[in-house]
Amino acid sequence: MDIFANIAILKEEIAQYSIQTADELEQFRIKYLGSKNIIKPLFNEMRNVPNERKKEFGQVLNDLKTSAEEKFSTIQESLSDGPNVENSGIDLTAPGFPYPLGSRHPISLAMNRIINIFARVGFVIAEDREIEDDWHNFSALNTPDDHPARDMQDTFYLQNSTEMLLRTHTSSVQTRIMTTTQPPIRIIAPGRVYRNETISSRSHCQFHQVEGLYIDKKVSFADMKQTLMFFAREMYGPDTKIRLRPSYFPFTEPSAEMDVYWGLKDETDYRITKGTGWLEVLGCGMVDPAVLENCNIDPAQYSGYAFGMGIERQAMLLHRIGDIRNFFENDTRFLKQFTSVH
Ligand code: PHE
Repeated sequence: MDIFANIAILKEEIAQYSIQTADELEQFRIKYLGSKNIIKPLFNEMRNVPNERKKEFGQVLNDLKTSAEEKFSTIQESLSDGPNVENSGIDLTAPGFPYPLGSRHPISLAMNRIINIFARVGFVIAEDREIEDDWHNFSALNTPDDHPARDMQDTFYLQNSTEMLLRTHTSSVQTRIMTTTQPPIRIIAPGRVYRNETISSRSHCQFHQVEGLYIDKKVSFADMKQTLMFFAREMYGPDTKIRLRPSYFPFTEPSAEMDVYWGLKDETDYRITKGTGWLEVLGCGMVDPAVLENCNIDPAQYSGYAFGMGIERQAMLLHRIGDIRNFFENDTRFLKQFTSVH
């Protein structure tokens, strides 16, 4: 057979040679490039080629050798690149894994809902630190060291400190604002608070509050009641009934607690309202003149009201959640049930 035809066949063979693994590559190398490779003997055929074709013969033979060398180095490179995607069994046309979007935390949802209601009647958001000093959290708010009301809120103090603490209520933001701003003041302060309480289905050592404070000339108890009624109707529905019960807080005088009428439709209603149908939602009152004085606001000129409410409680009522610990466990099966409706 024509030696030229032979070389053409070999060239095709090299082009088609299938190499998937390092072993196969080594076999290829031995066959075409090793010391006993099958191309080498072909050079000896030179003497049998007629003179006028010797040059052409040399060219095709070198070309054959180069094609084997090139194939070898290309494949060696791709194999050393790690697993070859095309041969790995990975389906590159398969759709990607879905990237699930997070959802808002039910506490944030309830908090935003409350903030939005008050924002519509002119309250602006104020935020401040969670690590507070004793004065801003207690003393300025008419609660000196030996005051029995301190027992109402078991406090986490920082290690080796009697001065620095984790705020027990967002009322500390009242102090922060009043000492730095002159009236009129109309703020809504959301945030996290801490109390040294035994963790159970109904109480936790951390929870959230929203605080409200309004100070101006001639602010009355009736103003407070009207604003809180507006809030209750926006929050729980237009027919919501409220009542204010006399209460006690060191920093407000008079003080009250607001209940909304929840009704007694089923057994749970009886349980959460203790059979009365009324549900306590917040504490409030007229800012005590002594507190205004502590913060350098003249009580002869100004008066105001304040209120504070727990958020977990609202969210538990809204979604009928039975255990407060759910909010802090970050179990996505719980969290992803709440979608923003407001
Ligand atoms: N700070 C009070 C509490 O945590 C709530 C409150 C705020 C009461 C403002 C009256 C006025 O219980």
